[in-house]
Amino acid sequence: MFKQVVAVVLLFAAVAQGLEIIQCSNNRPTPQEVTVPGCTSLPCQVPNQSDFNFSVRFAPTFPTNTLTVDVRASLLGLFLPYEVPEHLRNGCNNINTSCPLTAGQSVTLTGTAPVEAPLTGVTVTMEFEITGDGGQVAVCFAATVTLL
Ligand SMILES: *[C@@H]1O[C@H](CO)[C@@H](O)[C@H](O)[C@H]1NC(C)=O
Ligand SMILES: *[C@@H]1O[C@H](CO)[C@@H](O)[C@H](O)[C@H]1NC(C)=O
Ligand SMILES: *[C@@H]1O[C@H](CO)[C@@H](O)[C@H](O)[C@H]1NC(C)=O
Repeated sequence: MFKQVVAVVLLFAAVAQGLEIIQCSNNRPTPQEVTVPGCTSLPCQVPNQSDFNFSVRFAPTFPTNTLTVDVRASLLGLFLPYEVPEHLRNGCNNINTSCPLTAGQSVTLTGTAPVEAPLTGVTVTMEFEITGDGGQVAVCFAATVTLL
């Protein structure tokens, strides 16, 4: 019985296209799938001043007219100043459909987040939180990114 369960889990792990991401704290809703071109496991490698490209599939549990993308970068537990570029901030512009969204509607958001660090070889944790109307959290995930 146990062996069968293990086999099934391995099968799913092998079939899933998505990246295994880090969950956000406080039980914020997790995505259905995250993909990062060229990155199959964390940490992803990104050249300095290049973009961290990602695609996230999620379904807000509530209806919303807006989607706001927030990014927090941290290094060794310290937050780094990070300004979310305007093109990324408005999530409604980067989904595969248009806002408003109904509760439970599955969408895919594709974004590019510039990364920059004072040192190479450091691994930065980037947290992506997408909120809807009233600041309610629609989805959140984090990924580690090593600056080359
Ligand atoms: C992200 O996408 C941009 C534009 O397509 C590309 O120039 C850049 O190299 C990509 N970054 C990575 C780390 O693949
Ligand atoms: C948008 O993406 C979601 C999730 O991948 C998918 O279920 C939906 O069919 C897509 N919608 C359009 C209009 O392509
Ligand atoms: C990364 O780019 C920034 C902006 O140009 C620069 O200040 C920083 O020194 C670069 N980091 C490395 C390790 O070269």
